[in-house]
Amino acid sequence: MSSQANAPFVHNAWYQAAWSNEIGDTPFARTLLNEEIVLFRDAGGCVYALEDRCCHRATPLRLGEVVPEGLRCGYHGLTFGGDGMCVGIPGQAKIPKQARVRSYPVVERQEFVWIWMGDPGLADESAIVDYPWNDDHANWPHKHGMYHIKCNYMLLIDNLMDLTHIPYIHRKTIGGGSRMDQVNARMEVKRTDMGVHYIRWMLGITPPPTYVRAAGFGDGVTVDRWQDFEYMVPASVIQWTGALEVGCGAEENRAQPGGFSLRIYHGATPETENSCFYFWTAANGYRQDEPQATETLYQEIADTFLEDLEFLEAQQSALEANPERTLLNMKSDEARVQARRAFDRMLKAEQAPLAAE
Ligand code: FES
Ligand SMILES: [Fe+2]
Repeated sequence: MSSQANAPFVHNAWYQAAWSNEIGDTPFARTLLNEEIVLFRDAGGCVYALEDRCCHRATPLRLGEVVPEGLRCGYHGLTFGGDGMCVGIPGQAKIPKQARVRSYPVVERQEFVWIWMGDPGLADESAIVDYPWNDDHANWPHKHGMYHIKCNYMLLIDNLMDLTHIPYIHRKTIGGGSRMDQVNARMEVKRTDMGVHYIRWMLGITPPPTYVRAAGFGDGVTVDRWQDFEYMVPASVIQWTGALEVGCGAEENRAQPGGFSLRIYHGATPETENSCFYFWTAANGYRQDEPQATETLYQEIADTFLEDLEFLEAQQSALEANPERTLLNMKSDEARVQARRAFDRMLKAEQAPLAAE
């Protein structure tokens, strides 16, 4: 079993390294899974990831510059192509075979830059999480963000798998209304090939402040609210939440105009054992023609996630102070426990060949 405070890394997996628009024509450094990586975009627009350490004198390549042939070290000018091979040594015609740095498989799609941190021979692009809503700007205008959080990445996944925290820590945003509406939501949890899916229904409830501000539900209106979440190993959660006025038949058809509808991608990429990057994108599925509505939603979600961040960092410190102490599982942990099991299965599968050796 992976520990709560310091779940180990699964290496053979795609992680979000960055948002596409973070990578421009200057070197971009980020530590992922304890490895220092430098990303860059070449003149043709392709993104590459290399170890952030020159093979000559160990200078971080982030101090260099992007040139037509690749990334040039800032110290003595060795140039590396996107595959990590050295393609130029100033003042020397022959390039030795050892003149290379590690390169990581990278795929850029749907506004994500995905990186494969394990055995490159196992990198299978079909295993990348599909998030088509990022390509659908007309129906799902969106804006993304990223938070650096001082907690193990799996604590962030845990947080998204037990939403009974909402009425406690998100009172001013997506919480609000009756606390017990949230706690007593009808919860359906299903194991999937990639992890776990759940949907929560709160029928006939008072909409929370964020929903009222966004969709303009009138005074005294009650709604049927849903929270649809899918965890995909190791570090992605796809969310579709919303509400329709009572009587609209939300349970039969959620894709109706006139209510509140929001999609969020959540990605938790480990930086170290006790820090991670929280990538998220919030899509407005209710007032698509109003850029201000997308901006307001982004702000609300950004504020909401800051509330989570505060708790996650405090939780990490407490877990680290006493890592051996056991924790209590309750009814509301059902999806969270299943998510951890899916994660543990993936971890075990990766570690099994190593154990056999
Ligand atoms: S350290 Fe990179 S070229 Fe010398
Ligand atoms: Fe939260």
